[in-house]
Amino acid sequence: MTKYSRRKWLGSATLASSALLFNLGAICANEAIVSGPSLLRLNANENPYGPSPKVLVALQKSLSGSNRYPFQQAEDLVEQLARYHNLPSSHFMLGAGSTQLLKLLAQWALMNQYHVSYAAPTFDILPKYVARFGGHTTKTQLTTGKVHNLNALEEASRKHPGIVYVVNPNNPTGTSVNRNDLIRFCKQVSSHSYIVLDEAYIEYLGDENSLKDLIRDNPRIIIVRTFSKIYGLAGLRVGFLMAHPDTISTLSALEIWPNSGLGLPGIMAASASLSDSQFVASSRRQNQACLDYTREQLKALDIASIPSATNFLYFDSSGHTGDFNTEMSAHSVLVRELEDSGKTWVRVSMGTMEDMKRFISIIKKVWS
Ligand SMILES: Cc1ncc(COP(=O)(O)O)c(C=O)c1O
Repeated sequence: MTKYSRRKWLGSATLASSALLFNLGAICANEAIVSGPSLLRLNANENPYGPSPKVLVALQKSLSGSNRYPFQQAEDLVEQLARYHNLPSSHFMLGAGSTQLLKLLAQWALMNQYHVSYAAPTFDILPKYVARFGGHTTKTQLTTGKVHNLNALEEASRKHPGIVYVVNPNNPTGTSVNRNDLIRFCKQVSSHSYIVLDEAYIEYLGDENSLKDLIRDNPRIIIVRTFSKIYGLAGLRVGFLMAHPDTISTLSALEIWPNSGLGLPGIMAASASLSDSQFVASSRRQNQACLDYTREQLKALDIASIPSATNFLYFDSSGHTGDFNTEMSAHSVLVRELEDSGKTWVRVSMGTMEDMKRFISIIKKVWS
């Protein structure tokens, strides 16, 4: 099995930064630089095409300002986000990746003893953090189609009002909830609970599917977003939260210094990527081609997968005997296998088309 050592990572990260300074034009596939040419990282839902060339230019420019606190640039990014999402700037809050904001929400839940209801499997760091520190959580099941079961979540939240956490589209299943059903759900549930909508992958589905308009006059709906996925900035740690100004005030009061999680390079990169709609459109288009190809190829191998609205695919691996993760990593391919409703499933992130061809050739070797 290929081990991805910390020393190897540090060495390749140094290589990455020197390449950024001295050979900007040559950087187009960060994965090859950060992880070495032979390791195929299909396990973290990153964007294999990013960051965009415009971001690389912005990053280089930002480095010489590293001696100053980025107060003004953080404010400017909030203003830019506000214009982009057509909402007043008082609806926004920045974080070092959405993970920092999810942790803040978990701390808020613990302080107020808010019960957290969520579905499984999902990206569950928020409820897990709450449970780790003695808070109460309720797990509901997805439907058989692997979509959030809104009725089950509503019932759970009525029994235990507090916070309902919904990842839409969902990680790891790639499914999205019907928009009208979700709007109805938010309106009903917000009469007694907060709803945290994690829209990390919404740009793959289309930003028009975001429920951001609901936050204008509903302080109980909170939307968490990230620049780590379609914008290709996972390594820079940029996320943001959208909510009613009253909710933003409550949450910012929990921070010692609001909006302080981001460094200047991340802020400048996020700003550049927001204005690079071509990069987003091209990432989306290439991602869709990879999803279609991978799904088709898996089907030819008699492996059932769930239609995906994201940059990853979820497929049933219970027809395979043996440890799929270990066997794939022996071929330098990283994926995520997990247990779901008594069966094993694999979540494979989309790489480039070349990556997906390699993934399929290797799955053909290990599948039995
Ligand atoms: C649904 C979801 N939310 C949040 C995150 C965290 O993203 P980040 O902290 O990079 O913004 C992830 C990461 O994979 C995710 O899948």
